[in-house]
Amino acid sequence: MLVEKNVPLQHSNTFGIVAKALTLVRVAQEADIAAALQDPALKAAPKFVLGGGSNIVLTGDVKPLVLKVEIMGKRLLREDPKAWIIEAGAGENWHDLVTWTLQNGYPGLENLALIPGTVGASPVQNIGAYGVELQDRFESLDAIDLTTGQPFTLNAAQCAFGYRDSVFKHSSSAPESATHGFGLEGKALITRVRFALPKAWKPVLGYADIDKKMAQSGIQAPSAQQIYDWICEIRKAKLPDPQVIGNAGSFFKNPTVSPEQCADIIQREPKIVHYHLADGTVKLAAGWLIDVCGWKGKTIGNAGVYEKQALVLVNRGGTADPVTGGEVMTLAKAIQTSVYERFGILLEPEPVVV
Ligand code: EPU
Repeated sequence: MLVEKNVPLQHSNTFGIVAKALTLVRVAQEADIAAALQDPALKAAPKFVLGGGSNIVLTGDVKPLVLKVEIMGKRLLREDPKAWIIEAGAGENWHDLVTWTLQNGYPGLENLALIPGTVGASPVQNIGAYGVELQDRFESLDAIDLTTGQPFTLNAAQCAFGYRDSVFKHSSSAPESATHGFGLEGKALITRVRFALPKAWKPVLGYADIDKKMAQSGIQAPSAQQIYDWICEIRKAKLPDPQVIGNAGSFFKNPTVSPEQCADIIQREPKIVHYHLADGTVKLAAGWLIDVCGWKGKTIGNAGVYEKQALVLVNRGGTADPVTGGEVMTLAKAIQTSVYERFGILLEPEPVVV
């Protein structure tokens, strides 16, 4: 195990924010965690697990011990009559995994193409796009308890997945914990994730952007590869490439409101973009709320609101004069205030603020 000091993190977070890890250990295999947890100088330190850095805002140097997950490998673990079970190391790039599964004849992850980040981070916020969420394809995961060093396995129910949510985003002490006291925030490091990709593959369609592609191309029964290609085109057209413009994807979650609350808002704002959910609640498009408040293209310092999708905050200073975490949070708070004042809705940030 190599313990590194003062490691620059500018290229380890997709915003491109400048910050250092005061102490960092790379985890290429399970034994690296065991070594860190046995090291007298490290074992008691608070720990921060870093994957692809695509869902974090760094507001300063990271003082907890940074465990940088670099566990690699992807394989067909087994198959049963219904599904292929694919296993991937937590350090694998998410989009590379999606590409690999399609190339090897295991469709099912195509709607999740081009989402930045690593395999290990994917269950933490239950990534989702175009009608598919990670939980729809999830089988189980392996993790290590960062206090005891013990490995454990969780199935989907134990992960307590929700919209951009899981057991890994809740602290066990939080009274409002969705997981009823079983929170694992900061307590575990995910090492491997397994996916069940159904052999009876069916395309997941029904999103306006995909419908448009079907109409334009005249293709009514797209293959998984076709959907993958479309999703890549759609995302490239409306979301900034973090390699070119730093960002952390959607900065806020889409809020849900009661039907009564929605009806009240519609009276004042007839054009509001909303979707009725199966449980009776109504989901509002946060991007629309921010857009109508006039934020698209606005900046505070080097933090900006992306001009093609108001839900995405971007680094306007590039690598030469990068945005700070403070600027990102100042902009985020200003957006929250103006959306709250107009709609009475408090937007909840999606990334983890470190
Ligand atoms: N809209 C606007 N103005 C904007 C942005 C959006 O009016 O600036 C309207 C659009 O016209 C559309 C609606 O809002 O009618 C929804 O927009 P979009 O289809 O772009 O989806 P989204 O709800 O903003 C969510 C996810 C994305 C995911 C897409 C597609 C969240 C927080 N975001 O965005 O996920 O790719 O749906 O499924 O749920 C991410 O989490 O980082 C992410 C990119």
